[in-house]
Amino acid sequence: MGCMFKSLRSVVRFKKFEFDSAKRRLSRVGNIGDLRRVARRRLPSGVFDYIDGAAEDERTFARNEAGFATIRFVPRVLRGNARIDTSTTLMGEHLPVPLVLAPTGFTRIAHSQGELAVARSAERAGLPYALSTLGTRSIEEVAEVSDGDKWFQVYVWKDRGLVNEMLDRAAAVGYSTAVITVDTAMFGRRERDVRRGFTLPPRIGPGTIIDGMLNPSWSWDFMRAEPIMFANVTGKSVGDGSDPISLAEYVADQMDPGLSWEDIDRFRERWPGKLTIKGIQTVVDAKIAADRGVDAVILSNHGGRQLDDAPAPIDLLPSVADALGGGTEIILDGGIRRGSDVVKAVALGARACMVGRPYLYGLGAAGEQGVDFVLEHLAEGVERTLALIGCDSVEALGPEYLGRLH
Ligand code: FNR
Ligand code: LAC
Repeated sequence: MGCMFKSLRSVVRFKKFEFDSAKRRLSRVGNIGDLRRVARRRLPSGVFDYIDGAAEDERTFARNEAGFATIRFVPRVLRGNARIDTSTTLMGEHLPVPLVLAPTGFTRIAHSQGELAVARSAERAGLPYALSTLGTRSIEEVAEVSDGDKWFQVYVWKDRGLVNEMLDRAAAVGYSTAVITVDTAMFGRRERDVRRGFTLPPRIGPGTIIDGMLNPSWSWDFMRAEPIMFANVTGKSVGDGSDPISLAEYVADQMDPGLSWEDIDRFRERWPGKLTIKGIQTVVDAKIAADRGVDAVILSNHGGRQLDDAPAPIDLLPSVADALGGGTEIILDGGIRRGSDVVKAVALGARACMVGRPYLYGLGAAGEQGVDFVLEHLAEGVERTLALIGCDSVEALGPEYLGRLH
């Protein structure tokens, strides 16, 4: 027996047991798809479906990702690239890799540390993080934990005083960039949420209790943490989410569907920092935004959560890049799941890409370490792809590295 053990030891090495459970989980994760599966297992199904789901038949959501799979690389070899530089600049700021963390509402339903964990992780990675108007940690709370580049995403309330007040607060604590989201005149019909009667925060009923018992670590975390609320508007008349609400009703009650280009001009005058518009979905609107002097346009269909059958940003990108001709910078948002997707987008004319769900899967699967995993995984993927296509830097990328699948 002893002899058998000895000979076994001569050919295999036993792994040390990992006592940190988040690390243990992550050690078996190979990519964002795996992370999504871990998050699905650990989160109550209503919470997972709110994060993962999209509008109506989810065709746009599917195309956001699938569009990348139709693009092939044209890899060059023997180019003497001993060093790869993944860095770039976005609106004049240095980025170690062309990535930005997209704004997501109600982030604390994935993990009690929510926006604070995401902001800390983004700062460690040297990447900008956009806090949502509907965040569950406030503008100031996020600024307290992160000296990194912070952006503030604006949903335009009917109460314009509230918008102005939020922008003033963001400017006062050093947010660099305002992101005006313009694809939410009404809330998209997320049918996974409709079927469940999903509210935020989740309402406790028999289904939730069973779900909670099946997901004890999430339930334990949720019960011990402070209640989840719209931290930017606590105590305001608009309702701070302390009572369960359907987001669709909340947006219909509170946000202004009458938003227009004149409002963008007003934000431009008021906001001292950089201004971007998120939710541009056509060449013509990208051109209007550029002509109005925004600092960057964000091609986005809100991760497929608003209008189903809206174009996928990766499909739209070449014609927008052509129309803007390198004048106004373009950020592509939606469907990024690998570093190679970032490389494709940059080669087609994007300056950087935003990611939403990937970091939420990370947060749900393994908390802050899960977000770190996602950012490292994407950054490594950018570097490896550049090396394998024979391009020595993000700056040198161009369409000559890409072909289409026929
Ligand atoms: C979002 N998104 C979003 N956008 C925004 O401008 N304000 C917001 O509050 C939210 N909230 C939000 C919540 C959740 C759970 C998700 C998944 C998304 C959209 C987000 O910023 C981004 O556009 C998409 O997530 C991009 O697509 P991927 O990366 O998820 O494929
Ligand atoms: C969403 C909102 C919060 O997509 O933007 O769920």
